[in-house]
Amino acid sequence: MIIKVPEYIENLKAYVPGKAIEEIKKDFGLSEIHKLASNENPLGPSPKAVEAMLKSTDSLNRYPDVGALDLRNKLSQKFKIDINNIVVGSGSEGIMATILRSFLCENDELITSDSTFIGFQVLARGRANKTHFVEMSRADYKFNLNGILAKINANTKIIYLCNPNNPTGTIFTKAEFNDFIKQVPESVIVIMDEAYFEYAQGHQEYPDSMLYKYENIITLRTFSKIYGIAGIRIGYGFAHKDIISILMKVKLPFEPNNLAQAGALAALDDDEFLIKSIELNEKGYDYFTTELEVLQKQGKLKWFPSFANFILLDLEKQERVDFINSSLLKEGVIIRPLIAFGLPHCLRVTIGLEEENQTFIKALKKII
Ligand SMILES: Cc1ncc(COP(=O)(O)O)c(C=O)c1O
Repeated sequence: MIIKVPEYIENLKAYVPGKAIEEIKKDFGLSEIHKLASNENPLGPSPKAVEAMLKSTDSLNRYPDVGALDLRNKLSQKFKIDINNIVVGSGSEGIMATILRSFLCENDELITSDSTFIGFQVLARGRANKTHFVEMSRADYKFNLNGILAKINANTKIIYLCNPNNPTGTIFTKAEFNDFIKQVPESVIVIMDEAYFEYAQGHQEYPDSMLYKYENIITLRTFSKIYGIAGIRIGYGFAHKDIISILMKVKLPFEPNNLAQAGALAALDDDEFLIKSIELNEKGYDYFTTELEVLQKQGKLKWFPSFANFILLDLEKQERVDFINSSLLKEGVIIRPLIAFGLPHCLRVTIGLEEENQTFIKALKKII
């Protein structure tokens, strides 16, 4: 191409999503597929959200409410926080993109982990700024907060943390975060990606970042996981009002779209669906971990305690992951090999419906 592209864009690897159901059906001539690859809600979308979105289609000729006032008011009531501390966007990933666009100056640097949410990795690599990817220990697959502190320098502008972390499912605890945040300069933004907050919040040691009154923390959450509306792209964030006012200026004026705003508003009232989703996940987690423990005792894999709706399996070698992945595909089960996340020897499996979990375990036992 004769059009000049910045070198960091030229070198950028596009986000590779989990495999699509239709693609696998076609490739392997299968009629039934179990997609346990993208940490989606296996129960489908929140029924209340669907109903509200269907009702809102009459106004699709109109542009969305720029301030998303109804939704931000609802979030304000639910989380007992002022509306001026709330931003909504096209997915929490959309808000992450707005944060990078808003705050990064020429020589600013970012810090995160080498084994965290790939969406952030792609956004960071898509900038001219330097990003430090701090190595995660292979012993516990937890964010190396001390390693991140050690990388802070005068140019550090943004630290991205993901808790629970995707793809490892692990958390850093209240005590670890308390110790960490005290040592971060106030001029550094700390993004706390809590996409899996609802799954983790019941755990005593899990730090809810909204309870920390630091002016440099941005909490990000989403409707994509527990509310099951990933396809409609809507997420939200909480931060100091000065940060929010910048984000509101920079975000695309009409994000999130009409359907997303209507769906999210209704989803926040769908406690029944939320509870059902959490209960299904807990049951699935107990089943998975009981079965995986047997395979671990036989020395066939290692699994790691998860605080979200997925589990990390360490298979030691990439060849084993490739073999298990391709064999599972033939059985109609899609999981996520983690080469793109920097963990080629690992795979991630999403907790699904009871029968999907059983199909996965049965197939895995056969293959492994
Ligand atoms: C940690 C994490 N953050 C953000 C996202 C994306 O969320 P959203 O759909 O709100 O953009 C995901 C989706 O997989 C995720 O795992």
